[in-house]
Amino acid sequence: MKHSRVTARAHTNIALIKYWGKRDTTLFLPMNSSLSLTLDEFYTDTTVSFIDGDQDVFFLNGVEQPLEECVKISKFIELFRTQSSIKSAVLVESHNHVPTAAGLASSASAFAALGTALNELFVLRMDKQTLSTFVRQGSGSATRSIYGGFVEWQMGIETDGSDSYAIKVDDADWNIAMLTIPVNTRKKEISSREGMKLTVETSPFYPAWVEQAGQDIKAIKQAINNQDFIALGELTEANGMKMHGTMLGANPPFSYWEPLTVKVLQRIREIRGQGIPCYYTMDAGPNVKVICQADKADEIKKLLDQSFPDNTTIISGVGKDAYLLSVE
Ligand code: PMV
Repeated sequence: MKHSRVTARAHTNIALIKYWGKRDTTLFLPMNSSLSLTLDEFYTDTTVSFIDGDQDVFFLNGVEQPLEECVKISKFIELFRTQSSIKSAVLVESHNHVPTAAGLASSASAFAALGTALNELFVLRMDKQTLSTFVRQGSGSATRSIYGGFVEWQMGIETDGSDSYAIKVDDADWNIAMLTIPVNTRKKEISSREGMKLTVETSPFYPAWVEQAGQDIKAIKQAINNQDFIALGELTEANGMKMHGTMLGANPPFSYWEPLTVKVLQRIREIRGQGIPCYYTMDAGPNVKVICQADKADEIKKLLDQSFPDNTTIISGVGKDAYLLSVE
């Protein structure tokens, strides 16, 4: 049956073992497998419906988006349209529930929510694994937002991307939380797409990154399997820093760090030195995320808020799989 309106929700995720570099920029195939934690605090709700005419229309937080954004979304919708007998144009209405002060990229939850809604609207009924290969082509990190808990995006080896999908590794229901310390929430100057490209093409450290990421992913899955929080945290922190190291080797060199980033990292090491386990990671931006045990999250937030009163720390628990909110 053809639906008239479908709404889906997907949560954002933060990689503990990072995705950094593509082997195929059209199909969004990564150079290495990655592993993330889905967060319950930050998510996108997206409603899709069929409209007359031949142009897709895209509203984000109630504002109609410029042509450039619509083209990106249309390209993504086309992946679903080509699989279906329905060829209609689509109205996309998205709402990001990511506090603007969090400085988190919302592309992961955005494409995962849109893909989940389109899968139903076009009556494709793909399973989650297959759906993640579609979502991947909107934004790499979105692949992992199809599932909750700890999620691995397996890089795959095929050239058509059919085996580059997400799998759930663990529900992460063993006292896990993540903190976000916003350092600077301005739009970044170098997008992750540009940063990856420059690193892959010019950084002599890049081959070492690929090798290390392969080892780190095996080790972190072992840590998750053993519910060994310390090993999980140490691997997370080390992997994130290795990724940022590759950028310093690029030509021209670049970095997402700001002076306050360094202060926050230092403070987290001090807190850890006081016997409270907590480990940092950073994405393609200056903001810091900290993985910790859920029952220690309030205490760590209090210490960070005291040190950085203008950069209020946000606590998040573990998010669940992307899901349908309503189908009409
Ligand atoms: O898929 P993108 O463009 O959101 O790139 C994600 C890159 C990192 O956030 C730095 C790492 C990751 O695995 O999420």
